[in-house]
Amino acid sequence: MSYRGRFRVWRGDADGGALADFQVEVNEGEVVLDVLHRLQATQTPDLAVRWNCKAGKCGSCSAEINGRPRLLCMTRMSVFERDEVVTVTPMRSFPVIRDLVTDVSFNYSKAREIPSFTPPPGLAPGEYRMGQVDVERSQEFRKCIECFLCQDTCHVVRDHEENKRSFAGPRFLMRIAELEMHPLDVADRVQAAQDEHGLGLCNITKCCTDVCPEGIHITDNALIPMKERVADRRYDPLVWLGRTISRR
Ligand code: SF4
Ligand code: F3S
Ligand code: FES
Repeated sequence: MSYRGRFRVWRGDADGGALADFQVEVNEGEVVLDVLHRLQATQTPDLAVRWNCKAGKCGSCSAEINGRPRLLCMTRMSVFERDEVVTVTPMRSFPVIRDLVTDVSFNYSKAREIPSFTPPPGLAPGEYRMGQVDVERSQEFRKCIECFLCQDTCHVVRDHEENKRSFAGPRFLMRIAELEMHPLDVADRVQAAQDEHGLGLCNITKCCTDVCPEGIHITDNALIPMKERVADRRYDPLVWLGRTISRR
């Protein structure tokens, strides 16, 4: 059975904007993205919304619904009361291009700062051997669809634009963890995570994990193990001795 749903949608661009009220038909089984498409088709043909797969796999349709970072295509209308006003706004941590579309290039520049997989020199393809436990560990991280909802929600950058320069964000600290835990990767990633990518700014609030549509345990399986490796290294007697001698 269809009904008239009440929506508030942010309209504007880099120079500013405001929430606009709409009433739109909602049908059984629909998701928020369906309703935005109907809004485009019937009332606001110029509404900007980024999407691609409509299946929770491309990571394009990230936005905020009632203030919570979510995928528009995976949020069912049935989770809201019929008389509830559903507010849709762009991701807050990234600059707005137009309406619900943000410029997520911050994330691509962070990705480029991470050195790629570094196997030992001379290791030929086909000589790679990995234990199943190592395969499974990195497979969890590789479920990431790069929706950047975790990057959007993390308070280290959400409320502190000035931290963006020194903080890679949960998605990319997780990428560093994935490579660090790879048994064949020989790059030293622990110190870089701490010194260059801002691991120390994460105070394990787990908000990133809470919003991840892939259910990746970002904090428990990537960030905390990386923090433990940093601590192990700091308190390793040999490393301590090395640092003390080099300071003399
Ligand atoms: Fe999205 Fe999860 Fe990947 Fe973050 S880790 S970008 S929330 S899929
Ligand atoms: Fe941010 Fe996640 Fe750490 S939300 S503070 S990166 S646990
Ligand atoms: Fe692809 Fe939503 S449209 S994840």
